[in-house]
Amino acid sequence: MVNEQTKIPLKLLPAWRICRGSMSTQPTTATDPERTAHRNRGSEPEGRYRFPPGLDVNLLWYALRRFLPVDPIALFSHLGNTYGDIAHYKLAHRHIVYLNHPEYIREVLVVQHANFIKERVQQRSKILLGNGMITADGDTHWGQRRVAQPAFHRQRIATHAGEIVRRAVELREQWQPDSEVDIYREMMHYSLGVVGSAFFGRDLGEEVVALNSAVSDIMDVYHPLVLLPGIRTLLKIPFTPLRKAIRARDAIHAMADRLIDQHRLQDDNGDLLSMMLNAERQMQWSDEDLRGQVVTIFLAGYETMAIALTWTWYFLSQNPDVEARMHAEIQEALGDRVPVYEDLPRLQYTEMVLAESMRLYPPAWAMGREAVRDFALGEWSFPAGTTVLMSQYVMHRDPRYFDDPLKFVPERHTPEARAGRPRGTYLPFGMGPRQCIGESFAWMEGVLTLATLVQRFRVELVPGQRIEPQPLFTLRPKYGICMTLKSRG
Ligand code: HEM
Repeated sequence: MVNEQTKIPLKLLPAWRICRGSMSTQPTTATDPERTAHRNRGSEPEGRYRFPPGLDVNLLWYALRRFLPVDPIALFSHLGNTYGDIAHYKLAHRHIVYLNHPEYIREVLVVQHANFIKERVQQRSKILLGNGMITADGDTHWGQRRVAQPAFHRQRIATHAGEIVRRAVELREQWQPDSEVDIYREMMHYSLGVVGSAFFGRDLGEEVVALNSAVSDIMDVYHPLVLLPGIRTLLKIPFTPLRKAIRARDAIHAMADRLIDQHRLQDDNGDLLSMMLNAERQMQWSDEDLRGQVVTIFLAGYETMAIALTWTWYFLSQNPDVEARMHAEIQEALGDRVPVYEDLPRLQYTEMVLAESMRLYPPAWAMGREAVRDFALGEWSFPAGTTVLMSQYVMHRDPRYFDDPLKFVPERHTPEARAGRPRGTYLPFGMGPRQCIGESFAWMEGVLTLATLVQRFRVELVPGQRIEPQPLFTLRPKYGICMTLKSRG
C-alpha cells in the first residue's frame, strides 16, 4: 500500500544538525511576533542578505555520496513541518529557498515572475530533451509560447474530443474482462497516441511502445543526469549506464525528425506542428530548435496525463463509493452512447475525482526557479542565483487548507469549496505566465477518457503489490500498478 505519511522518517535524515523553528499560518510580515521569534532563533544574515531559518548543514556531501539528497518529497515535507512557510539551506555554494505558503508561491510565480528563470535541474534536462517550452527562458520561451498558443485555444481543443473518445473506445474494446493489466503502461501508451494525433496529426500505432520505453530509459538515469557534475563529459564515455539514455534520446529525436520531415511534405493541416513549421523561418529556428519543441510537447503532454489517469484508477479502486457515484453520473449523462465535448458540464463529479487524484498525487509534484537578480520575500532577502523550490505534493496535503488531507474527497473541488481556498493552495498545473499551456486540453482528455472507460469497466487492485510514487521529473508509480479489469456486463 502507499505510504501516505508526509513527515520525513528520521532514518532518512543523515546526521544533520537542524535549527528547529515553529510553524506559522501566515506569510511573513515585519510585525508578526511569531516570525520575529523564529528569525531570532534561526536566521544568520549573510552579508546584506537575510535568510530564513533552515538546515544549517550543506547538502552537497550527501548529494555526492548518494546522487540524491534524500527523498526530495520527504525533505520538502520535513522543511514545511519544521520551519513553516519558508526555509533556507545550501547545496555547495548555492542558496536554496523552499516555499511553503501560497502567498510566497504566488509572489514568485506571478508577482515577481519576470525576475525568475527555470532552475538548474530543468536547465540540465536540455541535454537530453532539447530547448523546448518547458526549459527555455526569456524571448526564446515567449516566442515558442506565442506560436503554440492558438493550438491550445478552447475552440481548437474541442475539435480533438471526437478523436480522444474514438481512441478510448478502441482501448476498451481491446480490454479483456477479468484480465490483469499494468494500468500505468496502458495509460502511457494511450495518452502518447492521443498527443500524436491531436498535436502532430499522426497515428503513432505500435511506435508508442518503443517511444514509451525510451522515455523510461531516460528516467532510469534521471538522478545522475540532473545531479552529477560534468555530466556532458560522462555522457560521452562508452559502456556506462548513461549511454542507454543517449540511445533512448536518439530514438526520440529520430521520431521527432521523421514527424517534421513528413509534415514538411504535407499541406498545412492546422495542427500544432504546422503552426511551428509556418513560424520557423520568421522565428529563425534551427532544426534542433524545432525538434526540441516537438519533443517537449510530446513529453509534457503524454506523461503527465498518463500519470494523472493512472493514479485516478488507483483511487477509484480504493474508494468504491466514489467509483459508484462517478459511474452513476456517467450513466445519467450518457446512457449507452459515448461522450461528446458538450457532455463535459454534465460530468462534473468525474472532473472532481480527477482533481482530487491530482491533489494527492500531482503528476508535476514540484516546481523550481532561479533568481536573475537579488529579490525579497516578506522580511527575507536573497542574492541573484538563489534557487526557489515549491512542491505541489506538499502544498496539496497541507492541513491548513485541506481538512483531513490524506482522505480522498472529490467534494473538495465543488466551485464553492474552491472559492473558499486561497489561490496557490491547489496548483497541479502551476500558476502565472508559465502555467501549463495544455491545462484545458488535459481536463477535457482526462474527463472524456475516464467517462468512456468507466462506462464499460471498473478496476480492482491486484493484491500484494508494492505501490510507491517515485518523484522524478513526474510522480510515476515506481513499480507500475496491476489492475484486474472488471466488465460491467
Ligand atoms: C494532467 C496533465 C498535466 C499536468 C499535471 C501538467 C502540469 C504542468 C505544470 C505544473 C506546468 C508548469 C511548470 C512550471 O511552472 O515550472 C506545465 C507546463 C507546461 N505544460 Fe503541462 N501539464 C499537463 C498536461 C499538459 C499537456 C496535455 C500539454 C500539451 C500537450 C502540456 C504542455 C505543457 C507545456 C508546453 C508547459 C510549459 C509552459 C510554459 O513554460 O510556458 N501539459 N504543465
